Amino acid sequence: MIYTVAKTMNLEIKDLTLRLHLKKPAGGYINVVDSIDLNVKGGEIAAVVGESGSGKSLLGLSILRLNPPGVSEIVSGSVKIKCLGEKDELDIIKLYPKDLPSVRGRLISMVFQDPNTSLNPVIKIGEQITEAIFAHEKRDKSEAKEIAISYLNRMNVDGRARFNSYPHELSGGMRQRVMIAMAMVLNPCFLIADEPTTALDVTTSLQVLNLIEKIRFESGLGVIFVTHDLSIAKNISDKVYVFYAGQVMECGKTEEVIDNPLHPYTVSLIKSIPSLSKDYMPGQKLFAIPGYLARDDFTPGKCRFYSRCFKKDKDCLQSIPLNDITRERSLRCIKV
Ligand SMILES: Nc1ncnc2c1ncn2[C@@H]1O[C@H](COP(=O)(O)OP(=O)(O)OP(=O)(O)O)[C@@H](O)[C@H]1O
Ligand code: SF4
Ligand SMILES: [Mg+2]
Repeated sequence: MIYTVAKTMNLEIKDLTLRLHLKKPAGGYINVVDSIDLNVKGGEIAAVVGESGSGKSLLGLSILRLNPPGVSEIVSGSVKIKCLGEKDELDIIKLYPKDLPSVRGRLISMVFQDPNTSLNPVIKIGEQITEAIFAHEKRDKSEAKEIAISYLNRMNVDGRARFNSYPHELSGGMRQRVMIAMAMVLNPCFLIADEPTTALDVTTSLQVLNLIEKIRFESGLGVIFVTHDLSIAKNISDKVYVFYAGQVMECGKTEEVIDNPLHPYTVSLIKSIPSLSKDYMPGQKLFAIPGYLARDDFTPGKCRFYSRCFKKDKDCLQSIPLNDITRERSLRCIKV
């Protein structure tokens, strides 16, 4: 029931562009997040996949306007959010800075990629979670403590035993789960989870993924799940956005994109993962995409995947638009 009602909640990103100013001697700028359109409804999980340095974290940070100050600026776009119980839709990009804290955590929350830099090392974890509660809600101390403990328990961390622990007294997996508890404690409608399982062993990683799944079914949470791992995206997401050098190369329903990839980057990415590739035979040498993602790939005037693409020709030396090929599938390639 919650799941059905939650579908009226919506996070709609349109034309979001984040400009990164480059240090001298190179100087100049690149659009490290370029004209991103992304939509996620309550109860839905949208995966953002792509290799290291493609701008996934900066996309997540831009949605909350937490992009690094001084070196980066949002130059276009909207991030419209509609939650249950909220009268109006809000555009986060248009909000006054003084209004941002009331949105962050309460309507949309983020699990940051690195829990070691996101948790304050000198404050006990229980206190860090209750601080998040006090920032948004009027609660007395013991009430906030019980809420914090119950959220830690939900994340399979023994809340009562660990409430007074400092972050360094926990394992990496526990810290990651504390971060998720902190992100969930205000019961937001949307969550941005940035590589929440990268640092974890397989078992703990599965626990965290199961938890996110459980919460989305129980409370209708909409999730943007950032990962470089397409196998995880396949298991957890309803739709997938394949990201390369700051742009969406291909997006659509997860099954369709993974079972029938169209963009040369998605094709190559899947070919390099034996468990997903249909072409892979046991004992065969693993395929790796040639070259690497370079700063130059972000410059306009050519397809951003040009330098590494097996299908390229001179026609690709122009900016390539993202075209809708069906109602639910889009593709940025002129050769498919
Ligand atoms: N604070 C910053 N100052 C300058 N450049 C930055 C900053 N943060 C990120 N970048 C650059 O922006 C690009 C995208 O970074 P981002 O962290 O978003 O990548 P990512 O896709 O999340 O990678 P990963 O999978 O390794 O986490 C990279 O080239 C990175 O060096
Ligand atoms: S537009 Fe050209 S370079 Fe880009 S992905 Fe398609 S074939 Fe490759
Ligand atoms: Mg990242």
